[in-house]
Amino acid sequence: MIGPNKIKTAVFISGTGTNLKTLYKFSLKKRSPIKIELVISNNKNAKGLLFSKSKKIISKVFNFKKRMIIENKILKDLEKKNIKLICLAGFMKILSKNFIKKFKGKIINIHPSLLPKYKGLNTHQRAIDNNEKFSGCTIHLVNNRLDSGKIILQKKIKIYKQDNAKSLAKRILNEEHKLYPKAIIKLYC
Ligand code: GRF
Repeated sequence: MIGPNKIKTAVFISGTGTNLKTLYKFSLKKRSPIKIELVISNNKNAKGLLFSKSKKIISKVFNFKKRMIIENKILKDLEKKNIKLICLAGFMKILSKNFIKKFKGKIINIHPSLLPKYKGLNTHQRAIDNNEKFSGCTIHLVNNRLDSGKIILQKKIKIYKQDNAKSLAKRILNEEHKLYPKAIIKLYC
């Protein structure tokens, strides 16, 4: 897809931003249907902001304490920039019903478990504690219920006996980086 025709995309982050990094790299490829125009973070110390700024992507930090007010500001920014897709990438805040309604079917999230199993936080430890043989990651559409929207793609990996939450998180994160671009291609190409 050529530049001007790409889907203008915003990525929402809270932390390290490795998924943001892989989405950005992907966005530069010819076959990518997206172009990242904006990065939003609720955390001014998010490492991912260093990356987005280094790539000259407009990057904004919002304190989500007054969520409604902040979301309205963000909605205005998104509208101004003609953003058509939001990729949540390690974004740790829950978006309101109103916000999700305004972007219905246009917000996607990555979650480090095989949804519908292990919604919410601490997914790896919970999977290990339950003696699961497999875990993985899921890309899904965002709806009003936490980690419950329509599943776009999943990748399953084995949990080894010697795994702990950290080793499992690392292997799954590696898969997340491959899965996010694939899901976007599946949705838009
Ligand atoms: C990822 O495991 C993501 O699935 C989860 O938080 C982590 C964020 O990683 N929601 P990063 O900030 O993209 O490096």
